[in-house]
Amino acid sequence: MERWTWRSTSPEETLALGRWLGERAQAGDVFLMEGDLGAGKTLMTKGIALGLGIDPEQVTSPSFTLMQVHHGRLPLYHMDLYRLERAADVEALGLEEFLEGDGVAVVEWAARLPEGLRPEEGLVVRLDVVDEQVRAVELVARGRRMEGLLGQLAMGEGVQQGPDDEQRKE
Ligand SMILES: Nc1ncnc2c1ncn2[C@@H]1O[C@H](COP(=O)(O)OP(=O)(O)OP(=O)(O)O)[C@@H](O)[C@H]1O
Ligand SMILES: [Mg+2]
Repeated sequence: MERWTWRSTSPEETLALGRWLGERAQAGDVFLMEGDLGAGKTLMTKGIALGLGIDPEQVTSPSFTLMQVHHGRLPLYHMDLYRLERAADVEALGLEEFLEGDGVAVVEWAARLPEGLRPEEGLVVRLDVVDEQVRAVELVARGRRMEGLLGQLAMGEGVQQGPDDEQRKE
C-alpha cells in the first residue's frame, strides 16, 4: 500500500499514530513531515519519540539548531528545516549522514530538503489543519518497507491501540 489517509480528531490521536510508527521504526527509517505551521509535525514527532522510548518532553522545535538528537531504543535525529536559508546549509551541516544513519530521522518541513538529499525511501507524513482539533493526515510510502507498514495500518492494526485508548478504558 502506497498511500493511507486518516483523520485525527485530537492531539492525542496524532500522538498515538506517531507512537505506533515509533514502536515499529527501524534504523535508517526516515519520516518526512510536511504541513503548515501548527499542523502537528512536532506533536507527531513526540509520538515517534515515545515509541522509541524517549521522553516526549525532550522533543521541541529545533528551529534554531536545525537538528536535535535524542537517545532511545534507537537514536532519533529530529530536524526542522523551517529556518533553513540556503540549501547548501543542509550539506554544510552534514545532515545527510543522519538521513541514512544508524537511527530514525524525522524531518519537519521536509519539502525544504534539497532535491539531491531527499531520501529515495521513507514515509512522507502530510498534516493539514481541518479545524481546531481536526487534522487530515496523509501518509505516502516510498519503498517496500514503508509500504509494508502502511499495509499494517490499513488493516486496522495500531492506531486504536494508542496510549490514550488505554486511558479511555479506565
Ligand atoms: N488533531 C490534532 N493533531 C495534532 N495537533 C493538534 C490536533 N488538534 C489540535 N492540535 C494542536 O495543534 C498544535 C500542533 O503543534 P505542532 O508544534 O505539533 O505543529 P508543527 O506542525 O510542528 O508546527 P511548526 O511548523 O510551527 O513546527 C498543538 O498545539 C496541538 O495541541
Ligand atoms: Mg514543529
